[in-house]
Amino acid sequence: MLGFSTFAAQNQEMYRTHTCGELRSAQIGQTVTLAGWVQTVRKLGTSITFVDLRDRYGITQLLLGEKLHEQLSGNPLGREFVIQAKGKVTERTSKNPALPTGDIEITVESYTILNKAAVPPFTIQDDTDGGDDLRMKYRFLDLRRQAVKKNLELRYAVNRAARNYLHENNFMDLETPFLIKSTPEGARDFVVPSRMNPGQFYALPQSPQTFKQLLMVSGYDRYYQIVKCFRDEDLRADRQPEFTQIDCEMSFVEQEDILTMFEGMIRHIFKTVKNIDYTEEIARMTFDEAMWHYGNDKPDIRFGMKLLNLKSAYTINGKKPGTGELINGAGFGVFDNAEAVLAIAAPGCSEYTRKQTDELTEWVKRPQIGMQGLVYIKYNTDGSLKSSVDKFYSEDKLKAIADAAGAQKGDLILILAGREERTRKAMSELRLEMGRRLGFRRDNEFKLLWVLDFPLFEYAEEENRWVARHHPFTSPKPSDISIMINNNPVIENADKYLEHPYNRIKANAYDMVLNGNEIGGGSIRIFQRELQEKMFAALGMSPEEALHKFGFLLGAFEYGAPPHGGIAFGFDRLCAILGGSESIRDFIAFPKNNSGRDVMLDAPSTIDDIQLHELSIQLKNIERDGL
Ligand code: AMO
Repeated sequence: MLGFSTFAAQNQEMYRTHTCGELRSAQIGQTVTLAGWVQTVRKLGTSITFVDLRDRYGITQLLLGEKLHEQLSGNPLGREFVIQAKGKVTERTSKNPALPTGDIEITVESYTILNKAAVPPFTIQDDTDGGDDLRMKYRFLDLRRQAVKKNLELRYAVNRAARNYLHENNFMDLETPFLIKSTPEGARDFVVPSRMNPGQFYALPQSPQTFKQLLMVSGYDRYYQIVKCFRDEDLRADRQPEFTQIDCEMSFVEQEDILTMFEGMIRHIFKTVKNIDYTEEIARMTFDEAMWHYGNDKPDIRFGMKLLNLKSAYTINGKKPGTGELINGAGFGVFDNAEAVLAIAAPGCSEYTRKQTDELTEWVKRPQIGMQGLVYIKYNTDGSLKSSVDKFYSEDKLKAIADAAGAQKGDLILILAGREERTRKAMSELRLEMGRRLGFRRDNEFKLLWVLDFPLFEYAEEENRWVARHHPFTSPKPSDISIMINNNPVIENADKYLEHPYNRIKANAYDMVLNGNEIGGGSIRIFQRELQEKMFAALGMSPEEALHKFGFLLGAFEYGAPPHGGIAFGFDRLCAILGGSESIRDFIAFPKNNSGRDVMLDAPSTIDDIQLHELSIQLKNIERDGL
């Protein structure tokens, strides 16, 4: 690429010879032209004005002296004006070590206002005074801020690193269509009406899943795409209605091949983007282990505080440890009657005051967590034990519980009891909260984890049927195929769905987890028509429905489909975590807000009657503002 100076040499009339982040003492004496935005204007006495000129690359100080006084007073410069200034690089009398260009300034000989700017609605600084809505409405100004720019630069670096790695490994970037057929599974589809086919709709892809599989059938054995996906689901800090995946697929592979290839990619990204040598082995855990020890299928393993199952309806690896021997029969109904009693030991918290334990109790009672209360045991540094259930348990019993929870002197043991699912989820949240409060969840520490052996199916209560936990194209573990084939998927008794053999079927599926966030997920796919048909049937689809929705894939499987599998990484999430943020919006140039709105464009919006007419669409009882 040609540098700016080279361009300038070719054409003296250029807007700029250098960027605002480029000049150093070595250039002192040179005549240069800069162009950029006015960050600040400071007057010194009556004749000197300092301007901080900003562009994407940095800030350079301009000194406008006596000679320009008249021009300045006739036409004052304001914040965010776009100007061009020509002058000499000079040494600064008071240097600014905080700025890379802080040793020099430009003694301006002439300047031109290229465009004026209205007073911006918030300051273009790291700690801006703009609230979220205002910044999103004026996102083009928000994007000028250094903090946001750094996030987008990181995003681009991750993008480049992923592309380079995949290219080096023979992956081919192939585009797939955005206007596809609606086959909702999981999230809702966004749909697009077709003018040329009245009454018919396209859907925007939730992911390129079936296309990448078809590409495998076509023989493009290593595919990737950094691609937009669209899901009409409820939004959270780590979810957007349109988001980006690093989507990949490979042929002639088994699970281990995929894990190895993408461990390589993530290590490469860590090295290139963060200069981190992630040489340690990437931890692996089964879904069952993750649920058992952390109450969660995406555990944050930067810290311990594992869940102790004092009593549980769940089994792990076929066993049912913690069946209540330690706690049952003491007359404490809350524990006796609970399906699950779970404990964690918070290190060094035995000195929590009453106020602090009360506050934690309120925390678990919030509707988002939904527990009735919290039991605690203080394992004091002198070895004595004190608890909120002293009435029921002797000190010896408390000691036995503390020991079972792996607690040390000085720890605070926190116990939740109730229905299995809810208690497990609540304890997982409490563990994360305590981890955060105790400073165990540091932004600059990274722990990767593979979660393996997910269940193939998940029970959908409202419909009393099975849904695919990952998606319907994920293959069952070969050893579990017989369970699928030999058992009727129908759930006779909804209350006893846990007893259905389908619960035991494991999938050839894997998730990559980083610091407690699911950053990627994939599976080895079904590639034979017969098994795929069985899968659709297990999900409650009739053969006709399966053919109507996925006939193209079933058909393709008859023309030489190779064994294949793949994975997709949540690109926005990965960037956010590498950038130390909880919110993916900070890493997207033009994100939507939590109601799925683009407040800058004011989208979605109504469309006019002519458009509706062309699309053969009639709206029902909807108030349409202004139309
Ligand atoms: P999955 O649905 O697990 O798999 O998505 C892959 C990854 O995408 C990210 N992600 C999201 N990021 C932001 N906003 C969202 N709404 C959102 N939803 C998902 C997550 C997730 O791990 N086709 C399969 C992949 C495969 O099987 O190869 C798929 O889409 O980080």
